Amino acid sequence: MSMMEQAKERARRNRKRIALPEGEESRTVQAAARIRDEGLAEPILIGDPDRIRETGKKTGTDLCGLETVNPETSPKLQAYADMLYALRKAKGLTREEAEKLTRDPMYYGMLMVKTGDADGLVSGAEHTTGDMLRPALQIIRTKPGIQTVSSCFVMDCPNKALGENGLLIYADCVVVPNPTAGELAQIAVSAAETARVLFDFKEPRVAMLSFSTKGSAKHELVDKVRQAVEIAHHMAPDLTLDGEMQFDAALIPEVGRSKAPGSPVAGRANVLIFPDLQSGNIGYKITQRIGGAECFAVLQGLAAPCNDLSRGCSVEDIVNTVVLTALQAG
Ligand SMILES: CC(C)(COP(=O)(O)OP(=O)(O)OC[C@H]1O[C@@H](n2cnc3c(N)ncnc32)[C@H](O)[C@@H]1OP(=O)(O)O)[C@@H](O)C(=O)NCCC(=O)NCCS
Repeated sequence: MSMMEQAKERARRNRKRIALPEGEESRTVQAAARIRDEGLAEPILIGDPDRIRETGKKTGTDLCGLETVNPETSPKLQAYADMLYALRKAKGLTREEAEKLTRDPMYYGMLMVKTGDADGLVSGAEHTTGDMLRPALQIIRTKPGIQTVSSCFVMDCPNKALGENGLLIYADCVVVPNPTAGELAQIAVSAAETARVLFDFKEPRVAMLSFSTKGSAKHELVDKVRQAVEIAHHMAPDLTLDGEMQFDAALIPEVGRSKAPGSPVAGRANVLIFPDLQSGNIGYKITQRIGGAECFAVLQGLAAPCNDLSRGCSVEDIVNTVVLTALQAG
């Protein structure tokens, strides 16, 4: 059974309520119907019910049994606006602005998650990453002990000798452009937790990647990764984590043995932490496009799960992201 099929089995056992703020969008409506039909979660389409019905008609989607919420007429609008105002007034948000923003399906969806009216949220078929992340950071905020939200990609590689039976976790590939050593350490600790909780890794083995292995090169960029290793050891003393090391030293046993002898991670890493967003984003695309890996992404470090889609996503991508969001919520 593939990684995603296993994830679907787990999601079916504990159906979560997932808010879809792009509820009028055609791929989202079709994905919601498929999620309902397969019993994967309880999707909530947020938007104008007339427009949602119109999309249903246009795409030939049966909307029967799908929950829809219209922020404009919702009895919760005022309470949500009050909550948003309380959360953001110190940052200069006025009551009028809070009321206006709450009518925006993205903000409304985030407030549903904040209050527990939904267990998670998936968006991004039409919005940019920043459009979705900013309200998530402002409203949902971070998990206790974590200050940095980041992303985590699971790469399902054709070569099953790699990582965890072919699965590799990559972080961060979407959120933090130029992390400090402290942020890098938090990304590593969060990625290990995502590997354990979401993808069932028994022992996450985390490699902090660089262009240097154990002092083979000297540069301030290498120093940053070495410092992140120290901070991460301090944050999570029981975590199997090592670095700095090069990509091949992390993954290939004989290279790991020769470049980092005695390392508990080198040659057998299953979680790879990239030193910045350029390397992480490029790295996952190389693995996907040249390496032939399937990839799935989630955000990590938020107090409740909210996940982003690519604007080029397919109906299936939305279904898969809802499944992973439901598992994060569970
Ligand atoms: C994440 C991102 C949207 C934040 O944007 P930003 O302009 O820094 O937003 P703001 O400064 O308004 O930050 C909003 C709030 O979130 C907080 N924040 C920003 N990034 C954060 C992070 N990674 N983790 C936790 N909190 C964060 C800020 O401290 C701020 O908090 P406050 O308003 O309560 O003080 C931005 O870093 C970004 O666009 N990242 C890259 C996304 C991208 O384009 N990726 C490519 C995808 S393929």
